[in-house]
Amino acid sequence: MIAVVVHGGAGDIAAERHRRAADGCAVAAAAGFAVLAAGGRALDAVQAAVRVLEDDPEFNAGTGAALTRDGTVELDAAIMDGAGRAVGAIAAVPDLRAPIELARAVLDDGEHVLLAGPAAWRFAAEHGIVPVPTATLITERARARWQAESERRAGAPGRSATVEGGTVGAVAIDVHGHVAAATSTGGTSYKRAGRVGDTPLPGCGTWADDAGGAASATGDGEAIIRATLCRAMVDRLASGEDPDLAATAVLAELARCGGRGGVIAVDRRGGVVVAHSSVTMAFAAVVDDGAGPCRAAGVSTTGTCLTALLAT
Ligand code: GLY
Repeated sequence: MIAVVVHGGAGDIAAERHRRAADGCAVAAAAGFAVLAAGGRALDAVQAAVRVLEDDPEFNAGTGAALTRDGTVELDAAIMDGAGRAVGAIAAVPDLRAPIELARAVLDDGEHVLLAGPAAWRFAAEHGIVPVPTATLITERARARWQAESERRAGAPGRSATVEGGTVGAVAIDVHGHVAAATSTGGTSYKRAGRVGDTPLPGCGTWADDAGGAASATGDGEAIIRATLCRAMVDRLASGEDPDLAATAVLAELARCGGRGGVIAVDRRGGVVVAHSSVTMAFAAVVDDGAGPCRAAGVSTTGTCLTALLAT
């Protein structure tokens, strides 16, 4: 059994964008699946999938990332190997085209788990990763979101930043039974500079452990942190809980923490789930139990799970 699931964020994707979001997720899932089908590692598969989404301007990661209050771009990302719980993450690092590559460099380096802020550029430079001009990451849509939020706040000052859908993530299980997760985001639109969301925090937006499975979350970052959503999800999988039921439970816990969002997961047996409490969630999956790849992609508006889609 090999499987990869990706998401393009929980939020409220306008109907005219559904096709582009679904297609982007499908391309990313195909990139991850190509790694798995060649016998590659789940860790490399989730990195490959997320890299595709970071370069796709439809999504809030890499190119297309949300803007801070100052009009700058600060990226969060994490990648985790279920074999040995190796994890690398970066938070609030400006001007990265491929945040997941810097997170992977942190994982491979192994000295630290999480590097934050502009000082992370010193580590990046040691690994051949160079900054890109901020303007190359800013899309018209991200600028419009910033403008709308700025105007909304002029009428209602002091409100917290709105969640920008479009965080991206991937989970996978490889032929050796190892799982991995990766997540990347620009965070919330109009966030304060220096704000860190759930994405790069192990156990919150990203978690993987071969004992249970792998999970990547999206949605209200502050609430996801309070729910330690992905750790809770994988712990439930480790106890043998059905992935659909586990997802339903952690999204209920997220609601208790005052948030909405979505989660994707794969368990150690190759069971997969996509579930959300947001209005929409873009996703794609490729699962191969030995009988050939089974594919699904779309923008869910129902909150229901992937299992049924893959069975059709
Ligand atoms: N879930 C992404 C964020 O809040 O930053």
